Amino acid sequence: MTWGRPGVRIPYRAPMIILGIETSCDETALALIETRGSGESFECRIINSLIHSQAKLHSQYGGVYPALAKREHGKTLVPLLEKLKSDLGSRGFTSEVKPRDLDWNDIKSQNPELFESFTKADFLKEIPAVDYIAVTEGPGLEPALWVGINFAKMLAETWQIPVIPVNHMEGHIVGSLLESDKPDGKWQKLKEINFPALALLISGGHTELIKINNIGDYQIIGQTRDDAVGEAYDKAARLLGLPYPGGPHLAKLAQQARDSNISIPISLPRPMIDSKDLNFSFSGLKTAILYAVRKAEQAGEFTDEFKKGLAREFEQAVVDTLVSKVHAALDDGNMNALIIGGGVSANKYLNQTLTKVALEYGIPIFTPSQHISGDNALMIALAGSLQIKTEMLGLIRASGTKKLGFDS
Ligand code: KG4
Ligand code: ZN
Repeated sequence: MTWGRPGVRIPYRAPMIILGIETSCDETALALIETRGSGESFECRIINSLIHSQAKLHSQYGGVYPALAKREHGKTLVPLLEKLKSDLGSRGFTSEVKPRDLDWNDIKSQNPELFESFTKADFLKEIPAVDYIAVTEGPGLEPALWVGINFAKMLAETWQIPVIPVNHMEGHIVGSLLESDKPDGKWQKLKEINFPALALLISGGHTELIKINNIGDYQIIGQTRDDAVGEAYDKAARLLGLPYPGGPHLAKLAQQARDSNISIPISLPRPMIDSKDLNFSFSGLKTAILYAVRKAEQAGEFTDEFKKGLAREFEQAVVDTLVSKVHAALDDGNMNALIIGGGVSANKYLNQTLTKVALEYGIPIFTPSQHISGDNALMIALAGSLQIKTEMLGLIRASGTKKLGFDS
């Protein structure tokens, strides 16, 4: 499967300000960036980046509960935007933030919380110095995505500015190319990278290997057949009695086990490690953990030591599996760089191991900074700015702000 815009070149542009919106999962995020130049002289500066995590709300369900995520995004977006108010600048005022067309009736019934807070927000009457709105159009949780898309649509109509639909995965890719994630307003160039490059995108919702032929030209060459890596971490962590999202907690136990040389209580499978393709499967690992935990409980051996040992073996099984597929993709891909992104890319042990792999192949590795390894709107604003192209904007103006049913 491929997506993107093969051969897109960034034309020379005057500075422009982009508002990014991200609601694909359980983070409600907004960011404001400014970009200028094109090609090698492309630069951006981060004006602000805000992330509201819903993780605590979902913790009682042990995973993201879509209806709750949707409602929470609806409640959060307008107040979050208000926090950006002092950064938004001004281009004058509009007389109203009232429904502009019949589509807003659909939004009112689909996202009542969003509709209500939006139409009551007088601060939205001030038209900001924003040139474009970039919004995540997918992949992600459908009900959650639509809140962000509807928000973008209402803002676009109120302020009369165009919307750029952004692929969430492209966001993770370009996010890893930022030198700094600090909202200090300083101009920065993106890290230099040669294509084709390999990206490993790993989070609670996705596990993909992507061949990047160029910015805007992507090919998915491997993906999970069932659970995503982060999901496997979270489910395994839950079985070990750890809070949600359990990935970082499980990683901590695994690290303690390695540091104190706690041995592994049982061996876990390395799923699909010998398959000829570049696909993954992680649901079997969760089942193996379930049986191991049950057996230990029955034998009265479900101790802290056991949990640490099992966490160590779980992490090793995940790392071995990811590393073997990355090896396979690098072996026949003629890749010039390795990019990792998504929430699980924050995992130190995985990072260290993949850094060694990249060294073996003599290629650089690009990892996102901590603040943007998980979902955020900074990467969405950046991906949006990179895809702005004169004729594309023509298309967006012609159809996008009226009816945001993007096909990518
Ligand atoms: O990208 P992200 O913030 O949200 C999406 O799922 O799209 O990723 C969150 C996932 C969760 O499953 C979380 O447990 C996992 O990333 N995660 C980690 C670590 N930090 C976050 N998994 C393993 N080790 C970590 N250090
Ligand atoms: Zn993500």
